[in-house]
Amino acid sequence: MDGNGRWANRRGLERTEGHSAGEENLARVVRAAVARDIGWLTVFGFSTENWIRPRAEVRHILGLHEKLFGRVAELNENNVRIRWIGRPFDAPEARTPRYVQRAIRRAIADTAENTGMVLTVAFDYGGRAELMDAVRAARADDGQVTPEGIQRHLYDPDLPPVDVLVRTSGERRVSNFMLWQSAGAAIHFADAPWPDYSPADLDAAIALVR
Ligand code: FPP
Repeated sequence: MDGNGRWANRRGLERTEGHSAGEENLARVVRAAVARDIGWLTVFGFSTENWIRPRAEVRHILGLHEKLFGRVAELNENNVRIRWIGRPFDAPEARTPRYVQRAIRRAIADTAENTGMVLTVAFDYGGRAELMDAVRAARADDGQVTPEGIQRHLYDPDLPPVDVLVRTSGERRVSNFMLWQSAGAAIHFADAPWPDYSPADLDAAIALVR
């Protein structure tokens, strides 16, 4: 969800206001994705590298995750099941504060019965870290490293292969996101910064694979 900061700068606003607009837009994009019968939507909310941003910005983004994971009524109305991928809370390098952990756990439990789209939020996530952890765990299982073994130890082994990877805000590079799962993905580049990413942009991405 690139471009929140640039969106805010262009309007003479604080970067944090761009993130808030980004969170609002995520709610809109989720509704649009449900209306288009998308089965799985996975978004990059916070990376393992994002902790080094200014403290006030990090605090704001954490609060937005609490807000997003708190949208349980809206998720239930749309029959959306929420999930999370990221560095396990008990990993030595993990830094997710307890209030975010609680919000994540509660939202997962309170939407577990929904049968529609699965919305997965990547929080404290890095694709290489996920792969390293999966390879280590696969080897610890039986001394072998196989594709099946790696798949089994990804943060969420149930996530299907990625059909379309979307990059917003004119970025044209891969971003340490779902490296294993997106091996065969189409890539859609949208020029809109994330707060302006629209249902029409989503349609253009879907058109690559439907
Ligand atoms: C990128 O914009 C966005 C982030 C670093 C993550 C935060 C995303 C949100 C707050 C959107 C809402 C989503 C959730 C899951 C709460 P950037 O800061 O890199 O913008 P820039 O590239 O213009 O500097």
